[in-house]
Amino acid sequence: MNGWKLTVVESYADMSRLAADIVQHSIEHRPGCAISLPTGETPRGMYQELVRRAQDGTIGWAHTRFFCLDDYLGRGKDDPFSLTGWLERTFLQPAKFPEGQTHLIPTTAANPHDAAIDYERQLASAGGLELIVLGLGANGHIGFNEPGSAIDSRTRVIDLTAESRESNAQYYEGDATIPGQAMSMGVGTILEARRIVLIVSGESKAGIVQRALEGPVGPDVPASFLQTVSAKLEVIIDHPAASRLGTSQQPRT
Ligand code: F6R
Repeated sequence: MNGWKLTVVESYADMSRLAADIVQHSIEHRPGCAISLPTGETPRGMYQELVRRAQDGTIGWAHTRFFCLDDYLGRGKDDPFSLTGWLERTFLQPAKFPEGQTHLIPTTAANPHDAAIDYERQLASAGGLELIVLGLGANGHIGFNEPGSAIDSRTRVIDLTAESRESNAQYYEGDATIPGQAMSMGVGTILEARRIVLIVSGESKAGIVQRALEGPVGPDVPASFLQTVSAKLEVIIDHPAASRLGTSQQPRT
């Protein structure tokens, strides 16, 4: 199952630069391709780098399409919890990503089930994802695919675990009550991307990194399903996050 490309970086800044390089490479080599990038703490540096490059003209979006990975259910962009709102403020607006090329995950649709199916259709008509960059949840989720998610799951509404809600509460001031449901691209949707990059930073993720990349493959740790597509998987992590990876690992470097 091994064979994914592992890059252990010296710093968060190195991880962020490398991830931004891959985004740039993908959109330059596949003009008009579709990409998806995560929200959260891990990709902040990558976004800073992409915004800097967009502002100084080193990177241009041309016909690139952006598909949102996940968001809380029923929260419009202006809701303080909205991940899409965060993405707009952090990346899409400052990087001047063309609004007409952004596909928002339909969390506020009257019929989320049908809207999720339509979202998958939009993705398919855009040619599928050329690139997806993922962060790793403390409980092994990718996107908001919580433990229990199936390998062939598609974009859908998901009940969030208490662990994820607690972990995400730290991003909001006061005693924030994190919404109980989200909509996320499914594991199957993610695994179909032609290039998959997992970025992880910090010692607190070392245990879940080890389980995801070296543990048994199964729904208990949804990120472990990435092992099934190792030939197109690139893992960029810092030393603390990589500290529990075993020597049996023989990654492509
Ligand atoms: C967010 C997402 C999540 C995060 C994960 C790690 O769009 O898809 O899977 O990537 O929860 O979050 P951070 O980076 O905040 O530790």
